Amino acid sequence: PKKITSICCIGAGYVGGPTMAVMAQKNPDIKVTVVDLNKQRIADWNDSDLSKLPIFEPGLDQVVAEARGRNLFFSTNVDDAIREADMIFISVNTPTKTYGSGKGMAADLKYIELCARQIAQIATTDKIVVEKSTLPVKTAQAIKSILDHTGNGVKFQILSNPEFLAEGTAMTDLANPDRVLIGGEQTEEGLKAIQSLVDVYATWIPKAQILTTNIWSSELSKLVANAFLAQRVSSINAISELCEASGANVEEVAKAIGMDSRIGPKFLKASVGFGGSCFQKDILNLVYISKSLGLTEVADYWEQVIIMNNHQRDRFANNIVSTLYNTVSGKKIAFLGWAFKKDTNDTRESAAIYVADKLIDEQAQISVYDPKVTAVQMQADLNYLNTRSEAENENFVKTETDAYKALEGAHAIAVLTEWDEFKTYNWQRIYESMSKPAFVFDGRNVLDKTALEAIGFRVKAIGK
Ligand code: NAD
Ligand code: UDX
Repeated sequence: PKKITSICCIGAGYVGGPTMAVMAQKNPDIKVTVVDLNKQRIADWNDSDLSKLPIFEPGLDQVVAEARGRNLFFSTNVDDAIREADMIFISVNTPTKTYGSGKGMAADLKYIELCARQIAQIATTDKIVVEKSTLPVKTAQAIKSILDHTGNGVKFQILSNPEFLAEGTAMTDLANPDRVLIGGEQTEEGLKAIQSLVDVYATWIPKAQILTTNIWSSELSKLVANAFLAQRVSSINAISELCEASGANVEEVAKAIGMDSRIGPKFLKASVGFGGSCFQKDILNLVYISKSLGLTEVADYWEQVIIMNNHQRDRFANNIVSTLYNTVSGKKIAFLGWAFKKDTNDTRESAAIYVADKLIDEQAQISVYDPKVTAVQMQADLNYLNTRSEAENENFVKTETDAYKALEGAHAIAVLTEWDEFKTYNWQRIYESMSKPAFVFDGRNVLDKTALEAIGFRVKAIGK
């Protein structure tokens, strides 16, 4: 197999940035160039002030500090990076389509296709093209068809190498993954290409954890892994509603079932609903593929995971309204957290956005504190829903950079993200500053319910 000396990654986002930083850190003899069309993003990746990196991930700054300028580079010059590389990772976004056939379900592959066309146009030497983005099964076929019609004699091998990192723990996930999955064509050339990529990972990952498969299994496994994970969250969230109605406690139930080694303890945390850029998009994609293949029952089965998640978010918002005597109009509702989970500044599909949208419909005055999310981002998230004018969103949602200020005078607090710092606040002081009765809706079960009730709060948690 060819020894890789130069890697290009197209897409400097939540996946491309951290993944390539670690790959460069562990392979000092490989030149790794991460490129993006977004000039500001690349400028931020190159900022000498590491607190300005475009994404927040614990530990990312140290790895960038170690490798950047040595063998890790961030650039907007896509053509040069393609030309120079033996191996090209495509790590661009693949959002749910917002137009045309498959709208609201299928993955939008236009950015992927643009990359393939650009590679086809620029390449003058043989390349291994790696799908790092999450893609519908059979996408490699389309990429191959675009690449193979360049007519300049350049040979391409296409691999699928989906990324399993979770945000907030990306650096430890990358340094120590459960497995790395590489799919490729089962031909002599395909197997050689697979081996070239195995060798890149083998500098830090034990061989036994590097799994190689055919390309369709690899593409599909990524969608299936996310579907299974999301399904666990929807399952426990469904049970949380049953717990609330029956007097059982969802944390006790989760513990009791999680100790069964066949079920396992992870991913059983009831919440206001899963968010993030992946779960919903990838399940919708799986549903769409199943429907396209005529597999109605399969599609319906997985779609239920999304239906339950939407229900959990709605239920949380409705519970706030009904508990506050059926009206929140003009009342101050304070949000703790806006990110879709702790330790990230990512807000894509965050439950907070949907809960806020519902409460704005009820004319609540929302005040938000999140340690990592900016006011500009929060407004952009709300405006993206297109429910009302930008001016109205601005009127109804105010962002505070001081948590105590956000909570002052509030009728109710809603915890939307499980940031650790929320547990350490002076809850007595917060209680004194609020309107009475002071309500807390803990959408993440992170606060000490008994301690808060002793102070005088009325607390509603998930599944208790
Ligand atoms: P992202 O939006 O953070 O980053 C994508 C980047 O690609 C953007 O900066 C965009 O400007 C750039 N881009 C788009 N088209 C381009 C082009 N033609 N040339 C150069 N740059 C271009 O997205 P992400 O979260 O990093 O996700 C990327 C892919 O990885 C998606 O398919 C996603 O499903 C998958 N994935 C994401 C995660 C996650 O946790 N975010 C985890 C696993 C897999
Ligand atoms: C997910 C997958 O875990 C990862 O393997 C894949 O590469 C990308 O998608 P991510 O979305 O970053 O990662 O975070 P994850 O930890 O999976 O959480 C997703 C959402 O589910 C979050 O909103 C989280 O709060 C929620 N969640 C997770 C729960 O509500 N309960 C749980 O028990 C676990």
